[in-house]
Amino acid sequence: MPNQSLPQYHPTARELDDLELLLGGALQPTRGFNEPGSPVTLDLPHDVVEAATAQGGAVELVDPEGLPLARVDLDGAVTPLSHAEHGPFRRLYLSVAECRERYAGRTWIPVTDALTEIQLAEIRRLGPVVLLALVGHGTSWLSTVGLLRATLAAAELLGDAGVVACPLASRGDVDLDHHLGVQVVENYADGDPIVGLLADPGGELADDIVDIVDEDRPPPEEQGLVLFFTGLSGSGKSTLARALTDRLLERGGRTVTSLDGDVVRRHLSAGLTFSKADRETNIRRIGWVAAEISRHGGVAVCSPIAPFDETRQQVREMVEDAGGAFFLVHVATPLEECERRDRKGLYAKARRGEIPEFTGISSPYEEPEDAAVRVDTTGRSIEEALDDVLLVLRDSGHLDLRDLNQLNY
Ligand code: ADX
Repeated sequence: MPNQSLPQYHPTARELDDLELLLGGALQPTRGFNEPGSPVTLDLPHDVVEAATAQGGAVELVDPEGLPLARVDLDGAVTPLSHAEHGPFRRLYLSVAECRERYAGRTWIPVTDALTEIQLAEIRRLGPVVLLALVGHGTSWLSTVGLLRATLAAAELLGDAGVVACPLASRGDVDLDHHLGVQVVENYADGDPIVGLLADPGGELADDIVDIVDEDRPPPEEQGLVLFFTGLSGSGKSTLARALTDRLLERGGRTVTSLDGDVVRRHLSAGLTFSKADRETNIRRIGWVAAEISRHGGVAVCSPIAPFDETRQQVREMVEDAGGAFFLVHVATPLEECERRDRKGLYAKARRGEIPEFTGISSPYEEPEDAAVRVDTTGRSIEEALDDVLLVLRDSGHLDLRDLNQLNY
């Protein structure tokens, strides 16, 4: 059966990393996804499995741009289709066989952070080495590019060190990550010595490396920031968000983009309804844009209802993956108060059945349990409510001390 007819699946970042390791021979003896007891899993959505069952018993894994990377049978067996060619430092992603050819006989050093002067001195005593940068999703606090740039700078300082990128992703479980990490590193080393560095050796970073780390992970007051206000219609989200945007603009020093629910629905999300699926699409669009803004060090102030916990979590993940800080503000003004205000007359219409699926009336609002701040605007001025938000931002270091003077108490 030709590949075009296979259902396609966009793997998660972790699954994409695992695929690359599988294809490069770095997970041996694991040869495919979902082997019994293996943490190397591919979690296909139900509809994709159904489509695959109907069409040849396999799926095509595609990269984010749609390039088919591999065919995966429903039993997990993997057949490569094409190799990823793009992305920064692609040339450093060597298969185990390529590593053998290029670096056999060297000492292998797994690297998950910028190397300090103390570590570099330790490495100099080891003779020819390869720095194996573990760049998979969630393994280093540095971004993939940041870790590779820092490792290349370290190799430069060492003189004759090789650098290999190893997309070993975290599974969020320390023991599992360690176990899999050992297996993967041993495959790259293939019998050559492996030296683990002390996790927290202290010591300074060389100047070149400090610059790279600072650029990759700026201090909190320069980090991209997404302030995400969620709450019922009429809760005061937009008003609070607008007041905060004004404060930030008056303070200067940062670019600020407002992504208000009603405004977004006139542009980015024009044509979407209030069905669950369309609301999720709406929020993911806002999240995508906000994440890009945070990637560039900007501030995005979002204020949609965003009634579903899962979608809010997805936004948090998108932002954090982009290196931004995500602050969820729950504008927890109770339904009775929102309905009493009813500034747009929508609650009255919804009660009369003229607006279907109205949040709080005929469509659910899932209260967040992970909000950084919870503000009820009932009986409070906007300035007072806003101070609750500013205090949390100041305490987290995302607003510098100049803002202390702007608080109302
Ligand atoms: S969300 O659920 O997708 O996050 P969003 O914030 O974009 O909602 O839009 C909410 C705004 O749309 C409300 O402030 C209100 O003015 C308007 N609106 C129109 N129909 C509905 C509805 N069925 N439920 C909630 N808000 C609605």
